[in-house]
Amino acid sequence: MEYLTILALFFTFLLSSASPKAAANQDHCEPSSKSDLSVIHIYGKCSPFTPQNKPSPAAASSWLNTVINMASRDPQRVAYLSSLVVQNKPKPTSVPIASAQNVLNSGNYIVRAKIGTPAQLMFMVLDTSNDVAWVPCSGCTGCSSTTFSPNISTSYVASDCSSPECTQVRGLSCPTTGTSECFFNQSYGGDSSFFATLSHDSLTLGNDVVPNYAFGCINAVSGGSIPPQGLLGLGRGPLSLLSQSGSFYSGVFSYCLPSFKSYYFSGSLKLGPLGQPKSNKTTPLLKNPHRPSLYYVNLTGISVGKIPIPIAPELLAFDPNTGAGTIIDSGTVITRFIPPIYSALRDEFRNQVKGPFSSLGAFDTCFAATNEDITPPVIFHFEGLDLVLPMENTLIHSSSGSLACLAMATAPNNVNSVLNVIANLQQQNLRILFDTANSRLGIARELCN
Ligand SMILES: *[C@@H]1O[C@H](CO)[C@@H](O)[C@H](O)[C@H]1NC(C)=O
Ligand SMILES: *[C@@H]1O[C@H](CO)[C@@H](O)[C@H](O)[C@H]1NC(C)=O
Ligand SMILES: *[C@@H]1O[C@H](CO)[C@@H](O)[C@H](O)[C@H]1NC(C)=O
Ligand SMILES: *[C@@H]1O[C@H](CO)[C@@H](O)[C@H](O)[C@H]1NC(C)=O
Repeated sequence: MEYLTILALFFTFLLSSASPKAAANQDHCEPSSKSDLSVIHIYGKCSPFTPQNKPSPAAASSWLNTVINMASRDPQRVAYLSSLVVQNKPKPTSVPIASAQNVLNSGNYIVRAKIGTPAQLMFMVLDTSNDVAWVPCSGCTGCSSTTFSPNISTSYVASDCSSPECTQVRGLSCPTTGTSECFFNQSYGGDSSFFATLSHDSLTLGNDVVPNYAFGCINAVSGGSIPPQGLLGLGRGPLSLLSQSGSFYSGVFSYCLPSFKSYYFSGSLKLGPLGQPKSNKTTPLLKNPHRPSLYYVNLTGISVGKIPIPIAPELLAFDPNTGAGTIIDSGTVITRFIPPIYSALRDEFRNQVKGPFSSLGAFDTCFAATNEDITPPVIFHFEGLDLVLPMENTLIHSSSGSLACLAMATAPNNVNSVLNVIANLQQQNLRILFDTANSRLGIARELCN
């Protein structure tokens, strides 16, 4: 009975959610309007980072391999996210030197952002689990060729060490005496670091200009995870876009991630309360003072079809001290649960689907796609909000199409494994609304590509 109610709500979402099409034009990749804030898969058609040998529309299998390949690098991302919440964890002692051709390890979606006056276009990675923004600047050591040139922007200002905001930056590298630009050194993605100058300039997103935006102007990078044209932090800490834009966006943004079905698709980012879905189904966002940028939610249970899977409540509990709990993240490909939760989910899923089961890449529960009709929905129960995952957000198919796999996996067990991460594949074609002013997260169905 309850299950029917959930389904009914789900279909209400389907019918009620407005879906302005932010479709990527298949012939060219210019934005359709000035206000366009497309969210593009980093290896999608309209991304400058898509390899030269772009998959043709017919070669759906090579796109799928891209996705599977990216998912195989999730453990590094999850280990990085976990390390952010664990205190006193030793830093990696050495990092490899970057090559501009390196495949990205973090950051799956990019947006067109412009910096400076006149505005210079950068394809920046969206990262909901980081606050700060940074871009490679001209003269940067180890960066790829597209950089921001501060010396041709009339609105660019470099901060110096005496400015109050300089003390807010992590990894500060100011000399103890004398005057200097506000330099800082930060690690990113688990294997990389960069050295930057805290700077200010105008940031243009669609039609909006955020004046005097603070970001890191990168002078040097090492490691393979630094997004080549910079990063836009959408976290909730003090230097993030939401914090810096003050009342301009009222602490609200949403994104809709494109479907994984095709590399042609793109989604959209919406900043501010206007045009957000009307649905008021929300769940509280939880604050972790040790890691203010992460978006923790209160996941209270998981069901497979009508069966709630047995999970000891303490395994799902939020604990700011250990970092335990569940976050929603824009940079992890498939949802990862800590091992006891994942095995309980997988076992119940296997109970209800017809085997035999095999493995494919990160996925350990693959079965004949002909049995897909009887696949039960997976339901994430958040406090105050049940998310019935659409089937495309539950399964991924092998390149031949003959196998369907449960598109979730276990969190890496080699780190302090306490963090569950709700990832991209499970968020596709849903509008995820982050309302930091009211500390809540909304989810509404939307066909966003
Ligand atoms: C800006 O700086 C870059 C790198 O330092 C240099 O190549 C370029 O000529 C400079 N442009 C102007 C207009 O000064
Ligand atoms: C930044 O970090 C790197 C690597 O740890 C180090 O070699 C470099 O000296 C640091 N730079 C500054 C200015 O502190
Ligand atoms: C949520 O929506 C329902 C039905 O539209 C309405 O009755 C209710 O007052 C709303 N609740 C809030 C908190 O806005
Ligand atoms: C999560 O939700 C459950 C059920 O409503 C509640 O008992 C618990 O206190 C919530 N946890 C947090 C950290 O708010």
